[in-house]
Amino acid sequence: MADAPVPPASLFEGAKSVLETADPRDKAAMARAVAAAWREKGLPVGTRLDAPDRPSRPADPQLVPPGQVPRRRLGTPAGRAALLHAIAHIELNAIDLAFDMLLRFGADPLIAEDDRAGFLSDWISVGDDEARHFILVEDRLNALDSHYGALPAHDGLWDAALATADSLPARLAIAPLVLEARGLDVTPGMINRLESTGDAKSAGVLKVIYNEEIGHVATGMRWFLAVSATLNQEPEAHFHALVTRYFKGHLKPPFNIPARLEANFPPDYYEPLT
Ligand SMILES: [Fe+2]
Ligand SMILES: [Fe+2]
Repeated sequence: MADAPVPPASLFEGAKSVLETADPRDKAAMARAVAAAWREKGLPVGTRLDAPDRPSRPADPQLVPPGQVPRRRLGTPAGRAALLHAIAHIELNAIDLAFDMLLRFGADPLIAEDDRAGFLSDWISVGDDEARHFILVEDRLNALDSHYGALPAHDGLWDAALATADSLPARLAIAPLVLEARGLDVTPGMINRLESTGDAKSAGVLKVIYNEEIGHVATGMRWFLAVSATLNQEPEAHFHALVTRYFKGHLKPPFNIPARLEANFPPDYYEPLT
């Protein structure tokens, strides 16, 4: 990893730097530096820059179709490393998704002028969390004698970003409210399985992530409601229409309804889509 990154001259420049940094640790460090500069030093927003279609990524891991990612039992360190590797890959994608949200939609006309700073602050804070999540998970991988890039990872995650690159309402419906909400459904089971194998440290990392992801879904919901109001759309029907159009397949129950409710995301949104 290189030295601490040089903070950018503007928020949009910083978001672009995050997306264009290939090394995962450097990408996470850049994300955290941009967030700190915004919080502490009043980094200016700057002029809008085009977002790259695909963020820069390292040569490893090799990206393969979802069915070809090896699954292993959690009872062995190798099995736990495989689970943590898959989570690290999701967190790395989540860093890019947050900064793509900033760069691509940070000047979107569907966000009222008065709300813009709040929108930017919310997604910077999400991106900062995702960078911290990546580092926490990669530290656990290192403790298990592995590292991010050691195993193949599935290449489907950025597809949802590409499919919703032209629509802020679609991006909000799919990224936080379908994909991140799905994380709330499956993470408690992973925490239990890690605890039952005696890996309390990895379980602890997943608990931190789980609690903060509730906040990310809540952020997605808040802006989805704002954008729906701007468009004069009834939000539930709007969500159903967007997911039907932009998400391939059905939503998978069982849902973690208590966690989703904590994120202000009620079942009327997702239960009709199973
Ligand atoms: Fe995360
Ligand atoms: Fe997240």
